[in-house]
Amino acid sequence: MGNKCEENLKVGAATIKAAEKYKGQEGAVMMALHEVQNAYGYISEDNQKYLSKELNVPLSEIYGIITFYNRFSLTPKGKYNIQVCLGTACHVQGAQTLFDLVKEKLGIEDGQTTEDGLFSLEGVRCLGACGLAPAIVVNSEVYGKVTPKKLEEIIAEYREKK
Ligand code: FES
Repeated sequence: MGNKCEENLKVGAATIKAAEKYKGQEGAVMMALHEVQNAYGYISEDNQKYLSKELNVPLSEIYGIITFYNRFSLTPKGKYNIQVCLGTACHVQGAQTLFDLVKEKLGIEDGQTTEDGLFSLEGVRCLGACGLAPAIVVNSEVYGKVTPKKLEEIIAEYREKK
Protein backbone atom coordinates (compact mmCIF):
# COMPACT_ATOMS: atom_id res chain seq x y z
CA MET A 1 0.00 0.00 0.00
CA GLY A 2 1.09 3.57 -0.02
CA ASN A 3 0.01 4.85 -3.42
CA LYS A 4 -2.40 7.69 -3.05
CA CYS A 5 -5.09 8.86 -5.36
CA GLU A 6 -6.31 12.44 -5.48
CA GLU A 7 -8.62 12.09 -2.47
CA ASN A 8 -5.70 11.13 -0.27
CA LEU A 9 -6.88 7.60 0.11
CA LYS A 10 -4.37 4.92 0.97
CA VAL A 11 -4.93 2.63 -1.94
CA GLY A 12 -2.89 -0.49 -2.61
CA ALA A 13 -1.26 -1.14 -5.95
CA ALA A 14 -3.26 -4.38 -6.26
CA THR A 15 -6.48 -2.40 -5.86
CA ILE A 16 -5.54 0.05 -8.59
CA LYS A 17 -4.60 -2.82 -10.87
CA ALA A 18 -7.83 -4.71 -10.15
CA ALA A 19 -9.97 -1.63 -10.82
CA GLU A 20 -8.23 -1.07 -14.15
CA LYS A 21 -8.51 -4.71 -15.10
CA TYR A 22 -12.21 -5.19 -14.37
CA LYS A 23 -13.66 -1.76 -15.07
CA GLY A 24 -16.73 -2.06 -17.28
CA GLN A 25 -16.89 -5.84 -17.00
CA GLU A 26 -19.79 -7.80 -15.63
CA GLY A 27 -19.12 -8.88 -12.06
CA ALA A 28 -16.28 -6.34 -11.78
CA VAL A 29 -16.87 -5.64 -8.09
CA MET A 30 -16.73 -9.27 -7.02
CA MET A 31 -13.61 -9.97 -9.05
CA ALA A 32 -11.85 -6.83 -7.85
CA LEU A 33 -12.75 -7.56 -4.22
CA HIS A 34 -11.31 -11.07 -4.56
CA GLU A 35 -8.03 -9.66 -5.75
CA VAL A 36 -7.82 -7.06 -3.02
CA GLN A 37 -8.71 -9.63 -0.36
CA ASN A 38 -6.04 -12.00 -1.66
CA ALA A 39 -3.42 -9.29 -1.85
CA TYR A 40 -3.93 -7.74 1.60
CA GLY A 41 -5.92 -10.27 3.62
CA TYR A 42 -8.71 -7.71 4.11
CA ILE A 43 -10.37 -4.81 2.33
CA SER A 44 -9.69 -1.46 3.96
CA GLU A 45 -12.11 1.43 3.90
CA ASP A 46 -9.87 3.42 1.58
CA ASN A 47 -9.66 0.53 -0.85
CA GLN A 48 -13.46 0.23 -0.75
CA LYS A 49 -13.85 3.94 -1.50
CA TYR A 50 -11.43 3.72 -4.38
CA LEU A 51 -13.24 0.75 -5.93
CA SER A 52 -16.58 2.47 -5.42
CA LYS A 53 -15.36 5.50 -7.36
CA GLU A 54 -13.48 3.64 -10.06
CA LEU A 55 -16.11 0.98 -10.70
CA ASN A 56 -18.96 3.40 -10.24
CA VAL A 57 -20.72 1.35 -7.59
CA PRO A 58 -22.16 2.83 -4.37
CA LEU A 59 -19.93 2.33 -1.33
CA SER A 60 -22.88 0.83 0.54
CA GLU A 61 -23.13 -1.90 -2.08
CA ILE A 62 -19.44 -2.73 -1.78
CA TYR A 63 -19.72 -2.82 1.99
CA GLY A 64 -22.80 -5.05 1.67
CA ILE A 65 -20.91 -7.57 -0.46
CA ILE A 66 -17.93 -7.67 1.89
CA THR A 67 -20.09 -8.29 4.94
CA PHE A 68 -22.29 -10.84 3.16
CA TYR A 69 -19.52 -13.16 2.00
CA ASN A 70 -17.47 -14.96 4.58
CA ARG A 71 -14.29 -14.91 2.57
CA PHE A 72 -14.10 -11.12 2.57
CA SER A 73 -12.86 -9.33 5.62
CA LEU A 74 -13.06 -5.71 6.79
CA THR A 75 -10.19 -6.02 9.23
CA PRO A 76 -6.74 -7.55 8.96
CA LYS A 77 -6.63 -11.13 10.13
CA GLY A 78 -4.35 -12.17 12.97
CA LYS A 79 -1.07 -13.95 12.42
CA TYR A 80 -2.97 -17.08 13.42
CA ASN A 81 -6.50 -17.19 12.05
CA ILE A 82 -8.63 -19.67 13.97
CA GLN A 83 -11.59 -21.05 12.08
CA VAL A 84 -14.06 -22.95 14.20
CA CYS A 85 -16.44 -25.11 12.21
CA LEU A 86 -20.06 -24.52 13.16
CA GLY A 87 -21.48 -26.89 10.53
CA THR A 88 -23.99 -29.55 11.51
CA ALA A 89 -21.59 -32.44 12.13
CA CYS A 90 -19.36 -30.28 14.29
CA HIS A 91 -22.29 -28.59 15.98
CA VAL A 92 -23.65 -31.86 17.33
CA GLN A 93 -20.18 -32.65 18.68
CA GLY A 94 -19.99 -29.46 20.71
CA ALA A 95 -18.53 -26.90 18.30
CA GLN A 96 -20.42 -24.05 19.94
CA THR A 97 -18.61 -24.71 23.22
CA LEU A 98 -15.30 -24.50 21.36
CA PHE A 99 -16.34 -21.30 19.61
CA ASP A 100 -17.37 -19.71 22.91
CA LEU A 101 -14.15 -20.87 24.53
CA VAL A 102 -11.99 -19.17 21.88
CA LYS A 103 -14.00 -15.96 22.35
CA GLU A 104 -13.53 -16.14 26.09
CA LYS A 105 -9.83 -17.02 25.97
CA LEU A 106 -8.92 -14.37 23.40
CA GLY A 107 -11.48 -11.71 24.34
CA ILE A 108 -12.68 -11.31 20.76
CA GLU A 109 -15.90 -11.93 18.86
CA ASP A 110 -16.46 -13.64 15.53
CA GLY A 111 -14.57 -11.80 12.78
CA GLN A 112 -12.34 -9.89 15.20
CA THR A 113 -8.59 -9.84 15.76
CA THR A 114 -6.79 -9.59 19.11
CA GLU A 115 -5.14 -6.26 19.85
CA ASP A 116 -1.66 -7.74 19.55
CA GLY A 117 -2.57 -8.99 16.06
CA LEU A 118 -1.73 -12.57 17.00
CA PHE A 119 -5.13 -14.25 16.69
CA SER A 120 -8.33 -13.77 14.78
CA LEU A 121 -11.50 -15.82 14.95
CA GLU A 122 -13.92 -16.97 12.30
CA GLY A 123 -16.97 -19.18 12.69
CA VAL A 124 -17.33 -21.13 9.44
CA ARG A 125 -19.72 -23.62 7.87
CA CYS A 126 -18.15 -27.03 7.27
CA LEU A 127 -14.44 -27.30 6.77
CA GLY A 128 -14.88 -30.50 4.79
CA ALA A 129 -13.54 -32.57 7.67
CA CYS A 130 -16.84 -33.80 9.13
CA GLY A 131 -15.34 -37.20 10.01
CA LEU A 132 -13.07 -35.32 12.40
CA ALA A 133 -15.85 -33.34 14.07
CA PRO A 134 -15.55 -31.08 15.89
CA ALA A 135 -12.87 -29.56 13.71
CA ILE A 136 -10.95 -26.31 13.71
CA VAL A 137 -8.34 -24.88 11.35
CA VAL A 138 -5.50 -22.58 12.36
CA ASN A 139 -4.18 -20.99 9.19
CA SER A 140 -4.03 -24.13 7.05
CA GLU A 141 -3.50 -26.66 9.85
CA VAL A 142 -6.56 -28.86 10.53
CA TYR A 143 -7.28 -30.12 14.06
CA GLY A 144 -9.89 -32.83 14.52
CA LYS A 145 -11.89 -34.22 17.45
CA VAL A 146 -11.04 -31.09 19.36
CA THR A 147 -11.97 -31.02 23.03
CA PRO A 148 -12.00 -27.82 25.10
CA LYS A 149 -8.78 -28.97 26.78
CA LYS A 150 -7.10 -29.62 23.43
CA LEU A 151 -8.27 -26.25 22.17
CA GLU A 152 -6.66 -24.49 25.11
CA GLU A 153 -3.44 -26.36 24.39
CA ILE A 154 -3.55 -25.39 20.71
CA ILE A 155 -4.01 -21.71 21.58
CA ALA A 156 -1.18 -21.88 24.14
CA GLU A 157 1.07 -23.54 21.59
CA TYR A 158 0.56 -20.76 19.03
CA ARG A 159 0.93 -18.12 21.70
CA GLU A 160 4.34 -19.55 22.61
CA LYS A 161 5.38 -19.68 18.96
CA LYS A 162 4.43 -16.02 18.47
S1 FES B 1 -19.47 -29.80 9.67
FE1 FES B 1 -17.55 -29.33 10.52
S2 FES B 1 -16.18 -30.11 9.10
FE2 FES B 1 -18.08 -30.50 8.21
